[in-house]
Amino acid sequence: MARLGIIGSGAIGSAVARLAVAADLEVLIANSRGPESLADLVAELGAGARAGTSSEAAAFADQVVVAVPLTRLRDLPLEALAGKVVVDTGNYYPHRDGRIAELDALELTTGEYAQQLLAGAHVVKAFNNILARHIPLLARPAGAHDRSALPIAGDDDGAKAAAARLVDRLGFDTVDAGGMSEGWRFEPEAAAYTQAYAAEPSSLAENYLTDPGKPLPVDALRALLAGARRPDVAARAF
Ligand SMILES: NC(=O)c1ccc[n+]([C@@H]2O[C@H](COP(=O)([O-])OP(=O)(O)OC[C@H]3O[C@@H](n4cnc5c(N)ncnc54)[C@H](OP(=O)(O)O)[C@@H]3O)[C@@H](O)[C@H]2O)c1
Repeated sequence: MARLGIIGSGAIGSAVARLAVAADLEVLIANSRGPESLADLVAELGAGARAGTSSEAAAFADQVVVAVPLTRLRDLPLEALAGKVVVDTGNYYPHRDGRIAELDALELTTGEYAQQLLAGAHVVKAFNNILARHIPLLARPAGAHDRSALPIAGDDDGAKAAAARLVDRLGFDTVDAGGMSEGWRFEPEAAAYTQAYAAEPSSLAENYLTDPGKPLPVDALRALLAGARRPDVAARAF
């Protein structure tokens, strides 16, 4: 059975884990508090999932989804992640992460920053532009008429192809936004960010816990990415 390591068991990590188990992937999931704290989640996920440490999740599979706060990437097991395809779901939220000068100055995209912290891994940005709530609501089998697309970015074409196959298996088409330097096209405040998957984009900030989601097909996502304007990250207030 194909395998997936997941580091981070919060909103995004657990949403991805549910899709992975549903897609018949064998999952090993980790968090910061240790495997015992994941007993309820693995019981819910069923026989296809088990809990472990971050090192075990990194060693478990060729592909590892990392869904932890941005600055916590520096805690992850670099040796075990070396050579792996790492799907990074993270965003830069200054209120949580503190101000990061290179990101505020637009010297790096968040994806480039993540790639620096995870030197040796082949990082692909994905799942960072969709609310955790919308992931199960919008996932569909391949070929469904109302399937949504997620953007991916990364500097290793082989890793990006592998990540695209994974995202497809989990329930979404992909659009290649380019190298990591293009990752800003689906960072917060860009048009292809979370509101693009909302039924009511204008009120998503208030209704993010109830918005039912709206499919975003490949062509519509491609247009949003192509027309994107780079967000003023230094002005980000959340
Ligand atoms: N929530 C969303 O809708 C959403 C949407 C798009 C992107 N994102 C981004 O995706 C990333 C994850 O978001 P989230 O909402 O899933 O966060 P979350 O609910 O706060 O969960 C974060 C997870 O990371 C784990 N973690 C923290 N430090 C760790 C470490 N050193 N080693 C291993 N695990 C560690 C935490 O472990 P414990 O459980 O033990 O604390 C927790 O399971 C963030 O960068 C976020 O900005 C979130």
